[in-house]
Amino acid sequence: MSASAAPLVQHAEAERRNSISIVLKDIVQEYPAPGGGATRVVGGIDLALERPGINMLLGPSGCGKSTILHMMGGVRPIGVKTPTSGSVLIDGEPCDGAHDDSVMVFQRYANRPDLSVFENVAFPFRLKLWRQRLPEGEWRDRVTQILAAVGLADKKDLRPAQLSGGQNQRVALARALVLRPRILLMDEPFGALDAQTREEMQHLLVKLYNDRPCLVVFVTHDVTEALMLGDRVIVLSAQPARIADDFVIGEPRPRSGTWQRSSEAVKLEERILNQLHKVSPGKGSLRVTV
Ligand SMILES: Nc1ncnc2c1ncn2[C@@H]1O[C@H](COP(=O)(O)OP(=O)(O)OP(=O)(O)O)[C@@H](O)[C@H]1O
Ligand SMILES: [Mg+2]
Repeated sequence: MSASAAPLVQHAEAERRNSISIVLKDIVQEYPAPGGGATRVVGGIDLALERPGINMLLGPSGCGKSTILHMMGGVRPIGVKTPTSGSVLIDGEPCDGAHDDSVMVFQRYANRPDLSVFENVAFPFRLKLWRQRLPEGEWRDRVTQILAAVGLADKKDLRPAQLSGGQNQRVALARALVLRPRILLMDEPFGALDAQTREEMQHLLVKLYNDRPCLVVFVTHDVTEALMLGDRVIVLSAQPARIADDFVIGEPRPRSGTWQRSSEAVKLEERILNQLHKVSPGKGSLRVTV
């Protein structure tokens, strides 16, 4: 590529990132119930996420958060029609299966124990789709860059068993972001980490997001995490999940401890907790980080 063409390509990529959308239209999900019949897990959700930003999906345990996130990523459970009714649109097009623009990060980081940190992050480029898209020199540079960004440059030859939980989650995050996705779907990614490591990972996510904004949907049942990270917080009711509240937080990130203790943050925390207790008294579990 000529030097003069590079800014044009970057501009086109930025445009593509800014025009991303996920729209859920009257989504219902039912699963077969153990004794016959069906259990309604998602009870009619309309939601439009139409620009880069960090969107927190918060709700009690078992309310259907992963089910909704999987739908957004086109992940289909075996033997179950999903959604049961309604539609998921990505950039206005029906989402019928896994799509190239999104990647998922899970609580269980799913790193391969037999591969080094470098090879774990490079793994997508060993698959045909990505191998064909990027020349080896380019993806190797990308892997090196993202490993530096997540602070694992000096660990690149180690195996996952030689890393801590937080470091393993950095590997998973790097493997997702090395693809420069337009949509990043995160399912309680920091839920298994201790409080201090979780906070470090939240700061890292904010830094990486600022470097390359995309549309993030981040599932959590931690109220503090939602307030620290979200541009928008969508609160779900207990099963069957419906939208109980949906609000925007304008405070720039990183959000300080002082903001966390401010009357604005305390009111938002109360608003979430009241909403959840109103809609689902005594059901599911929530965490407020201390
Ligand atoms: N493939 C499936 N078949 C049958 N039932 C399912 C299936 N997937 C999820 N469920 C049920 O749907 C409900 C919601 O599950 P889901 O995993 O979406 O909840 P969640 O909010 O992510 O929970 P958690 O906070 O514990 O991760 C649960 O009762 C679960 O048992
Ligand atoms: Mg879940």
